Amino acid sequence: MGIIPFFDLANQFKSIEDEIKPAMDEVFQTQQFILGSKVQLLEETIAQYCRTRYAIGVASGSDALLLSLMALGIGTGDEVLLPPFTFFATAGSVSRLGATPVFVDIDPETFNIDPSKIEERITSRTKAIIPVHLFGQCADMNPLLQITKEKKVFIVEDAAQALGAEYKPEVGSEGRKAGQIGDLGCFSFYPTKNLGAFGDAGMVVTDNRDLAEKVRLLRTHGSKPKYFHKWIGINSRLDTIQAAILLVKFKYLEKWTSERQKKAQYYQLLLRDLLPSAKGLKLPMIQYQNRHIFHQYVIRVQERDRLRQFLTEEGIGTDVYYPLPLHLQECYSFLKYRRGDLPHSEKASEEVLALPIYPELTENQQRMVVDRIKAFHWKR
Ligand SMILES: Cc1ncc(COP(=O)(O)O)c(C=O)c1O
Repeated sequence: MGIIPFFDLANQFKSIEDEIKPAMDEVFQTQQFILGSKVQLLEETIAQYCRTRYAIGVASGSDALLLSLMALGIGTGDEVLLPPFTFFATAGSVSRLGATPVFVDIDPETFNIDPSKIEERITSRTKAIIPVHLFGQCADMNPLLQITKEKKVFIVEDAAQALGAEYKPEVGSEGRKAGQIGDLGCFSFYPTKNLGAFGDAGMVVTDNRDLAEKVRLLRTHGSKPKYFHKWIGINSRLDTIQAAILLVKFKYLEKWTSERQKKAQYYQLLLRDLLPSAKGLKLPMIQYQNRHIFHQYVIRVQERDRLRQFLTEEGIGTDVYYPLPLHLQECYSFLKYRRGDLPHSEKASEEVLALPIYPELTENQQRMVVDRIKAFHWKR
């Protein structure tokens, strides 16, 4: 049987190569490589897409988080609440500024921060909350907005995996775009993201003019005019060439997203048969009133590592996001969390398995993936 890779960027590139190459060539001809009109156009495009007033292109999703927290003035002595079941950058950005990440457990159904656990962790030092819209589905934002309004705490959305996702608290209510809901929203254009560059790139979105201006300055060492520094910033500029590539790819984003959604529905259908017999198998909980953009399709299963090994041997690529929650990482041992402190995050780390999902994946390939998962379970 054929190999089914976990992601397949080469195939995507083939389909748009004829547009990408001239766009890159245009940049080579102008020899302008940093910021510039392409970056500005991408910023306008993303702001319009996210329905925010401002968007600021930066060097990566990690820097989008760092710069957002810098713009809010977060630093030593401050605390920032966030889930531990996320990519490291969510917490790393807090620590880089000398502030303390305070980990709040997740809702085991959605993998997103559990709003009911937030209030008990807020102290007089809490400056912000970073909800992560994990795998492309929005965290439950309404309770967070309520809490932060009462406690005067900022929200920085880690929407790195969620460009185009929407949050609708109720069926029929007006949806809000990921990144548009909090004070600032952060996106990553890492190559495997739904909208991926040919290297690192990121974006901050916001409706707040002052915060937008501050992020914009902070990404160029806080200088305005050039060589006069209002703030101590960093170098985090978005490359022109990445913007040119992203502008081409953006035209396909909606189509690619709907392809991902179709693949997710098909997995739900195919995997349903297995539910009674596969021990501990859980399919992703899709909140249908929301718009889930399926950056990842993640199942839970017991004996995850053995299943993964079996699938690897059968030529099927999978991945584990994330094998160790952040509160148990070596670099955070000084925070003195122990195993058992955040049980839902810890259990998720032992059980999650991301299956291949990308627009180019065929139904036949999906049937093969599920067929092999069934073979694993039914042979035992
Ligand atoms: C949840 C989350 N936060 C932050 C980041 C950081 O983005 P980047 O890799 O572009 O720095 C990523 C992506 O890798 C992510 O998945």
